[in-house]
Amino acid sequence: MLSVKSEREIELMREPCAIVRDCLAFVGERIGAGMTTKEVDALVENFIRASGAEPSCLGYCGYPASACVSVNEVVVHGIPDGYVLREGDIVSVDLCAYKNGFHGDGARTFRIGQVSAEKDKLVRVTEECFFKGIEGLQAGSPLYDIGYRVQKHAESNGFSVVRAYTGHGIGKEMHEDPSVPNYGRRGTGIRLPAGAVICIEPMIAAGTWRVGVLGDGWTAVTLDKRPAAHYENTVVIREDGVEILTL
Ligand code: MF3
Ligand code: CO
Repeated sequence: MLSVKSEREIELMREPCAIVRDCLAFVGERIGAGMTTKEVDALVENFIRASGAEPSCLGYCGYPASACVSVNEVVVHGIPDGYVLREGDIVSVDLCAYKNGFHGDGARTFRIGQVSAEKDKLVRVTEECFFKGIEGLQAGSPLYDIGYRVQKHAESNGFSVVRAYTGHGIGKEMHEDPSVPNYGRRGTGIRLPAGAVICIEPMIAAGTWRVGVLGDGWTAVTLDKRPAAHYENTVVIREDGVEILTL
């Protein structure tokens, strides 16, 4: 069941969401060639804890880190390890912070140095997909209009929408109803009420949308090993639009 948040609850959610926003910006200023994905995770964990929050991902369903760090063909849920980032990589960093009894959730895909024209466009189009997704979104909008617009933008640019993972509601739990797919039929789905708080997170692939999960049980990779990108924000549905809490 979708929960509608009160203004008081939304007020409490601002802080974990601002920590996610600032942490993503902090990582973006420091990430670069020569850094391991484990070092990226350490930046995230230290930043979140120094902000008086907890990293929601750590221990979630047994997840072993504070951030998901997903390089190139890894779509989501890359587990930080000794991999050394190098020029030409694209790296999505996805993180959640818990404070005031609520979670915030966001992700960005970063370019390491000069990347291929295809990767560059993929990262740009994935961000654009988020903004297409929220275009015209307000109380009463059909849920699957979001995915309809995301899919249209991704596919019209020659990319594909990953189906196996979706956005989600968020609040006292990191994952709440509803599931927010990045594909769909216009005019369908529940009508989103004012006060719903959801994470919209396009996961877009350069090639096939089909993914597989590695033996670690987490790492989701594209089956054709072509790159994928991810961009996510936590947003509040308002009477006259949306409010983005992690930007
Ligand atoms: N932040 C992710 C999301 O967008 C969740 C990561 S799964 C976890 O839903 F296990 F890492 F927490
Ligand atoms: Co999310």
